[in-house]
Amino acid sequence: MENQYQFIQLTQNEFVATLTITRPQQLNALNKATISEINSALNQIQHNNNIRVLIITGSGDKAFVAGADIKEFIHFTPEEGKALAKNGQDLLFDAIANFSKPVIAAINGYALGGGLELALACHVRLASENAKMGLPEVTLGLIPGYGGTQRLAQLVGKGKAFEMILSAKMVDVAEAKNIGLINEITTVDNLMHQANDLAKTMAKNSPNAIKNAIAAIQSSYTNDGLQTEIDLFGSCFGSADFIEGTNAFVEKRKPNF
Ligand code: CAA
Repeated sequence: MENQYQFIQLTQNEFVATLTITRPQQLNALNKATISEINSALNQIQHNNNIRVLIITGSGDKAFVAGADIKEFIHFTPEEGKALAKNGQDLLFDAIANFSKPVIAAINGYALGGGLELALACHVRLASENAKMGLPEVTLGLIPGYGGTQRLAQLVGKGKAFEMILSAKMVDVAEAKNIGLINEITTVDNLMHQANDLAKTMAKNSPNAIKNAIAAIQSSYTNDGLQTEIDLFGSCFGSADFIEGTNAFVEKRKPNF
């Protein structure tokens, strides 16, 4: 498959496509251009009958995705913050959650903020032993804005979601497996192999039945929560806490709220 993208790489092996986010210097943080490229790739995959399953992973040995690109939104107004969440959810997170083909997250390192939210939007999550997962937005004066307040609670229950979001603490793979956040733990070397094995098993099944199964499962999870999240995420932008939190991140110091 010819690669026409700058921030992602798309490869295909039989019925399985792998999308790798290729910004390792920025720990694969999701800037606007990367989100737009993934959206184009999703459209491309959607219309390709020779692709039946998609695997998403990150480049490098450190991160799956370390979140939305903080440097890109540091000067955003509340309106721009709200648009950031809305566009991201429409173009990427909801598009994946409701994709008609299975999407597997192969979590190969940090999955933080929008990175964990990306994994949460996928249908299945496999993680290598070095992975660390969390929603650290409150350390930035923000809340999760790419579906995390809804999808984390749906997967691990409200109590654990409250603990993770309000403490901003990361969990390791053992804890993630224990609370149902990930499906399987693998070695670093075996991650893509295991993801491909699962993808190939799924690819043998009826594409029409798979599409309907995804739609049926997701139909229980339509609610106003995502819109509430978008509104509240936007409202955090411009607050004194947001300014302190994001500046502390780029200055590589702890925030003082
Ligand atoms: N946005 C932009 N740049 C990021 C980034 C992010 N989310 N995460 C890491 N980077 C950049 C760093 O700024 C750094 O760049 P420079 O070399 O230019 O300084 C580079 O990636 C390497 O990162 P670190 O030097 O920080 O690496 P580390 O090993 O010391 O720490 C880390 C790794 C713990 C993952 C740390 O990078 C980190 O905490 N990252 C931010 C995690 C975060 O807060 N994510 C949530 C983002 S907000 C969000 O996602 C909102 C939403 O829900 C929509």
